[in-house]
Amino acid sequence: MKPEKRHFDVLIIGAGGAGLNAAVQLAGSGMKVAVVSKVFPTRSHTVAAQGGVNAALGNVESDHWHWHMYDTVKGSDWLGDQDAIEFMCREAIPTVYELEHKGVPFSRLENGRIYQRPFGGQSRHFGKEQAARTCAAADRTGHAILHTLYQQSLKARSHFFSEYFAIDLLQDAEGAVTGALVMEIASGRPLLLYARATLLATGGCGQVFRTTSNAHINTGDGLAMVLRAGFPLQDMEFFQFHPTGVAGRGMLITEGARGEGGYLINSEGERFMERYAPHAKDLASRDVVARAIVTEIKEGRGCGPEKDHVLLKVDHLGEKVVAERLPGIRETSKIFLGIDPAFEPIPVYPTAHYLMGGIPTDRFGRVVVPARHGPEEAVPGLYAAGECACVSVHGANRLGGNSLLDILVFGRLSGLEILAYLRENPHARVTDSASEERAMARFQRFDRGGDGISVAELRAEFRKVMEEHAGVFRTEEIMAEGVEKVKAIRERLDEVRLRDTSRVFNTARVEAFELENLIGTGMSMILSALARRESRGAHSRPDYPERDDRNWLRHTLYFREGDRLDYKPVRTRPLTVESIPPKERVY
Ligand code: FUM
Repeated sequence: MKPEKRHFDVLIIGAGGAGLNAAVQLAGSGMKVAVVSKVFPTRSHTVAAQGGVNAALGNVESDHWHWHMYDTVKGSDWLGDQDAIEFMCREAIPTVYELEHKGVPFSRLENGRIYQRPFGGQSRHFGKEQAARTCAAADRTGHAILHTLYQQSLKARSHFFSEYFAIDLLQDAEGAVTGALVMEIASGRPLLLYARATLLATGGCGQVFRTTSNAHINTGDGLAMVLRAGFPLQDMEFFQFHPTGVAGRGMLITEGARGEGGYLINSEGERFMERYAPHAKDLASRDVVARAIVTEIKEGRGCGPEKDHVLLKVDHLGEKVVAERLPGIRETSKIFLGIDPAFEPIPVYPTAHYLMGGIPTDRFGRVVVPARHGPEEAVPGLYAAGECACVSVHGANRLGGNSLLDILVFGRLSGLEILAYLRENPHARVTDSASEERAMARFQRFDRGGDGISVAELRAEFRKVMEEHAGVFRTEEIMAEGVEKVKAIRERLDEVRLRDTSRVFNTARVEAFELENLIGTGMSMILSALARRESRGAHSRPDYPERDDRNWLRHTLYFREGDRLDYKPVRTRPLTVESIPPKERVY
């Protein structure tokens, strides 16, 4: 099938908060902007974000961006780059006001200001007392933001390719990015989209794990495309398990439930977080709470007949608070558990939630890679923002409420940076024909029927391996075994068959591409994790229980070719304030 060809100034792949906020910035510039999304834009995973977005507005109690910065550096277990963190925390305030002015229907305080709730790892006065920094639209904040941004992008006349799947990046002879090959899912037609700048905003890869809060669409597509284009991924060993997923299912029960005053109990009715985090208790950072839950269960204090979960209590808050502030989790609990949290506790267990690592970028969204000569260089024409990018502002553990912030701040800045780049680089680069051929070969990769392994079988096996070998606690032995299993699964991708290709709908083809992306991403995660011999943030190794700043205060880079690892230093210097030096991380 010969591909159709289209030319744009900017190609944005992904229509969640990061992609749409970039598109909105480019609006009115006169640039031709294409937005490709494998689902209808308002189904992007931003829609599922519940608790809110952090900004030191000080609407409930006094607050300051510097305290937000301190919390984020500490939350990151000092692996976050302090210049980028300072930038994000300062920008948070105008970013939230910009959203408000664009029409996001935030919940309100009595005085009309934006409602803010406490979230984990937040403090005032550099760790002294709990802050209330998370700006919320009940517990459906992502929904409110995504719909507003989509409306703004429609107004801006961005060109949407909805339900198109991105196959691979296109490159010129020097490796600069010149667009992407995509497939229209309904027809299976390939389409070459050429662009002077390409922004990846494809979100995370939670589907790597069997139990996850992530949508089915979160299959690491942008991450895997970057690997195939020859560029590395950064800090892939750092994956966040959200403490409160619906037990056995994985759907998210927002941290906002604890922010509103909810708390966790074990089978003895004990409020066990008091032992693990005497000061912050249930609002310690997520890695701390997730480990505490798993430990309680391992030590026999789990609830239910299988003793395999703990309970989250919000029933003491009263039906009015639950109805007004937590309507979404009430609905989720009713649908998936048949219980009403206004009257009964919710069975919860940690669920795979968020990738801290990703495509290495600077704070302008430029993808930066090790240079042949010198420390780092930007890949011409390639940008990344949102969960697929690693700026790095989350380091080894992200704070709740900082992911919506990340997509908004860095989506916006990427849009502005792309505009500046396009003005300085008015001529399109010429796509290498070999790159087009490679992309077309991949497009046909799964066009084969007959006997073999089904995508569903191999995917189920892979996700189980990742859950068992790269979960909340990981040891050398467990991960080394996992690496071998993932390698074997990767080999078997060639045996995947779409049964009768004349009769399958293209979604089956998409699932095969997604599986390949998941496996590529999973390999980067488990290999990076095996190599890091320390415990830091979400990377918790009982065989190396201490953080080791002397040897490991550095970012990991994984390259697909030869499954190679490299490292680069953490940027410990902020932009305008003093560096926050590493110290013991207690809550
Ligand atoms: O718990 C939550 O509402 C999740 C928020 C986040 O991941 O930032």
